[in-house]
Amino acid sequence: MILDRHDRINSSEMQARLESAGTSDRRIPVEQTSDFIDLMQIYEGAMYEISTKLEILDDEFQVRFSHDPIHHMERRLKSVSSIIGKLERKGLPLTTESIKDHLFDVAGIRVICNYRDDVYSVSRYLSAQSDIQVLRVKDYIRNPKQNGYRSLHVIYAVPVFLSTGAHYTPVEVQFRTIAMDYWASLEHALRYKSNLPDAKLAEHSQTLLDCARSLQNVEAQMQSIHRDINGAPRGDET
Ligand code: GTP
Ligand code: MG
Repeated sequence: MILDRHDRINSSEMQARLESAGTSDRRIPVEQTSDFIDLMQIYEGAMYEISTKLEILDDEFQVRFSHDPIHHMERRLKSVSSIIGKLERKGLPLTTESIKDHLFDVAGIRVICNYRDDVYSVSRYLSAQSDIQVLRVKDYIRNPKQNGYRSLHVIYAVPVFLSTGAHYTPVEVQFRTIAMDYWASLEHALRYKSNLPDAKLAEHSQTLLDCARSLQNVEAQMQSIHRDINGAPRGDET
């Protein structure tokens, strides 16, 4: 199952969003509007290329091992206002060139797997495919963040073939388990959506850190039962 967290690219709507994003000095220049829309279409294509590869791998596992490693996927393109906000935070010019050169997470896919073994096997098989490149890996599963966040982040470059030829385009893929996703959603809500006083925030953050550890233990125990039921893992255990 794939959940799309954005609308399909539509030129007139994208143009309206570009025009309404911020004040005139905080916008992508009008003369770059069509380049920007073309660029977004390429990011969308790259995202579809990678998610199709992942669906094919998931189907193969189902056929060969009667096991679906991927629970579901979520896809999203960064919104115009988030793109502008990120360029500004990084002190970069608001141009399509600067998006291409500096933002690697315009196209994003979250791959929610059933077990930790699945995270590593799916990411390993995807990374080994000869037509894509791995640009960057951040393994917050082996090295969790201080707040307890765990996920495997990989930035891939995938060729998107248009009438103008191949465009190698980055896609950020976040691989995580159901438990890691469950945790990250609540932590995100606490950090970005709550208006709690600082003391409450600190208390909840500490509780969340404890929850991250508990979930990690539960996950390890359930993984071990799953391995026993399904036989030895296929060299993917960590
Ligand atoms: P930015 O993209 O600028 O944030 O920097 P980066 O690319 O170095 O970030 P990183 O790869 O560490 O994380 C990128 C994404 O991972 C974020 O946009 C979130 O979706 C997710 N993420 C990272 N850290 C956390 C966290 O502590 N909590 C939650 N809920 N999500 C996180
Ligand atoms: Mg990022």
